[in-house]
Amino acid sequence: MTPGPIVRVVADVAEIARFAAEELVAAVSRATRERPCRVLLSGGRTPEPMYRLLASEPTRSRVDWSAVECYFGDERPVPPDHPDSNYGLVKRTLLEPLGLASPRAYRIRGEASDLDLAARRYEALLRSRFAAYPPEDPSFDLVFLGLGADGHTASLFPGLVIPDDPPRLVVAAWIEAMQTRRVTATDRLLNAGRRVLFLVSGRDKASAAQRTLAPEGRAEPTPASRVAPRAGEVVWILDREAASALPKAIAR
Ligand code: 6PG
Repeated sequence: MTPGPIVRVVADVAEIARFAAEELVAAVSRATRERPCRVLLSGGRTPEPMYRLLASEPTRSRVDWSAVECYFGDERPVPPDHPDSNYGLVKRTLLEPLGLASPRAYRIRGEASDLDLAARRYEALLRSRFAAYPPEDPSFDLVFLGLGADGHTASLFPGLVIPDDPPRLVVAAWIEAMQTRRVTATDRLLNAGRRVLFLVSGRDKASAAQRTLAPEGRAEPTPASRVAPRAGEVVWILDREAASALPKAIAR
């Protein structure tokens, strides 16, 4: 059984970016072009300062980007140049600023008319890139995740049930709360990760963080609380506001 989550509380989102960027620098230092560092990236606002930090000096020169492969934990039903695109966010804030040095990035085709097919194709791509076929699952070196105020992570929203028989890594799902469809990594894929980093910022996340990391009574578990890698570790990096409802014993 993997140890419980590691919880780090830092001053603000800029500090979250610095902490998370160091995690990537460390992970890539253990990789090579032959055995690249495979990273699952998150969308949303919180990781943006980290992407910008990674693309700027001195951090960018500390990373061998040719030994990095980027993938996406979820995507919205929009084309890559749309403001809501998670791939678009990473392209604008990391890939384009890195220019020729930019790492290989494999995006989810959010603009596809058939999102179920787009999800299956992305799953097939993951299995072939990782040469990981059932019962083995692709294992990311680093998984970046966020937390929604309702406790969702990636696009695993409360109430969304994804059957695991047959096992799926990536699915398209209707998100009632957002009245839209999303393509998302499943618990199975996230929990195959070696190191999972939750980046959480802002007071509006305090209740979800508390319900995930220190649930009281018979509170409904949040989707984020299902992230417990089978053979990896989870690190939560929260700013003070997001950690404001956590018991002191947890928030170090
Ligand atoms: C997305 C993300 C989602 C995000 C949370 C937190 O596509 O939106 O994958 O899970 O991480 O909603 O978003 P913020 O960082 O913007 O608060």
